[in-house]
Amino acid sequence: MEATPAMDPVISEPVMSEPVTSEPVISVRGGTAALGSRPVLRGIDLTVNRGEVVALLGANGSGKSTAVRSVIGQVPLTGGGISLFGTELRRFRDWGRVGYVPQRTTAASGVPATVREVVTSGRLSRKRFGWLSRADRAAVERSIELVGLADRARDSVAALSGGQHQRVLIARALAADPELLIMDEPMAGIDLASQEILASTLREQVAGGATVLLVMHELGPLEPLIDRAVVLRDGCVVHDGPPPKAVGQHALPGHDHVHPHAAGEPLRTGLLT
Ligand SMILES: Nc1ncnc2c1ncn2[C@@H]1O[C@H](COP(=O)(O)OP(=O)(O)OP(=O)(O)O)[C@@H](O)[C@H]1O
Ligand SMILES: [Mg+2]
Repeated sequence: MEATPAMDPVISEPVMSEPVTSEPVISVRGGTAALGSRPVLRGIDLTVNRGEVVALLGANGSGKSTAVRSVIGQVPLTGGGISLFGTELRRFRDWGRVGYVPQRTTAASGVPATVREVVTSGRLSRKRFGWLSRADRAAVERSIELVGLADRARDSVAALSGGQHQRVLIARALAADPELLIMDEPMAGIDLASQEILASTLREQVAGGATVLLVMHELGPLEPLIDRAVVLRDGCVVHDGPPPKAVGQHALPGHDHVHPHAAGEPLRTGLLT
């Protein structure tokens, strides 16, 4: 049932001077999945190597969220295989190494926790015991500050706007200092200023060695960070390589897209707001 790891296309051509020593952080091989009776993933290959920032792109309904949810074990595959850090998913237990920001939904969360409580829950995922050290508390406060919610830390998340709620979820993932960060449309619904904050935060994580898988509609302020893009269409990978020059709205005819790689320059992010 599992694909052979040795067949992984990314490591099939090792460069002689630089032997491949580390396993991919994420490896999905021929993954298929169905939701209800509907096939949603039709045999996808997705490899994310250590230190890489990979964008997962595609139209609404193409299977992006399903793909990342299968990687974190929330959607079972009907065929193919997945491993994380070289361990088959079903034997993987090291969830403290993984930070996940789910796609924002409009559904209200049931339990009215405060911002600080939600962010702390991210930090707890890496703890064997339930109490927090001074370093844990510092990591929680730092993450809350990074997303600009220090003044709201004691507020109930139920009292936040959608974009603020999204920033809480990002802070929760960052609080664990994860080696692998998976974010499903983290930029959706957050304003340009917050997008820039998130971009610089991510840049810091990447500089510190983090591996990142980002689901997105358009690259926006994160574009300079992206090493590779995987594009899904109707549950299949149709592109795996350099980020496409035009995605989403940018693909529309007559839409001129200048690539502003200079840091700090405001970027157009039409589809995200
Ligand atoms: N719980 C579910 N039950 C049945 N079908 C589902 C379910 N969740 C998603 N689907 C279907 O699976 C397909 C892929 O959905 P998915 O959420 O993975 O797409 P996506 O690429 O993330 O889209 P978006 O850009 O809108 O977030 C869609 O056709 C969707 O209707
Ligand atoms: Mg989605």
